Amino acid sequence: MLSLRERVDADIATVMSWIPDERALYLFTGPRLVWPLTVDQLAAMTVTSEISAWVMVDDESLVIGHFDLTLADDTARIGRVIVDPAERGRGYGGALVSLAVERARSLGARRVALNVIADNAPAIATYEQAGFRQLPGGDRPDVRSMALTL
Ligand SMILES: CC(C)(COP(=O)(O)OP(=O)(O)OC[C@H]1O[C@@H](n2cnc3c(N)ncnc32)[C@H](O)[C@@H]1OP(=O)(O)O)[C@@H](O)C(=O)NCCC(=O)NCCS
Repeated sequence: MLSLRERVDADIATVMSWIPDERALYLFTGPRLVWPLTVDQLAAMTVTSEISAWVMVDDESLVIGHFDLTLADDTARIGRVIVDPAERGRGYGGALVSLAVERARSLGARRVALNVIADNAPAIATYEQAGFRQLPGGDRPDVRSMALTL
């Protein structure tokens, strides 16, 4: 059984170990963070009260995935989605996004939005599978904006 708990500082090293290079960092978070990733960079993203960071754990408390949520008005923005590379392709990404959507709903969101790098096929497939649809427009061809109405 998979569940969520709030990320604690000790989880950051685990998440960082899943990001082996600059390309992986770019897929994880776009251009916001710079390679080499540091604990401080990742921790500093969650200092505001609007953003909360979460890990998905299995029934042995092993950390399998991570995301954060930023709430603004009725929209929750999902970011920093990642699954342990050793566990990918087994349905955990879909489970993670479902749990993130449920968490957004429980925080009061009526809509969930996200940005994804346009050539990140696994991520786009995961979001589409969860019901997210591409938003029209956008000024950056390398970024796809997607949303789900709750
Ligand atoms: C995106 C990510 C979270 C998906 O996790 P996952 O555990 O592999 O996903 P799942 O096994 O649940 O697969 C979900 C869907 O993606 C599809 N998928 C998985 N790997 C894929 C691949 N390499 N290419 C195309 N589609 C893929 C699956 O087929 C599945 O769709 P389906 O149910 O229609 O078959 C994972 O690849 C990851 O951590 N990537 C690196 C970080 C990243 O890119 N984050 C996104 C930030 S926006």
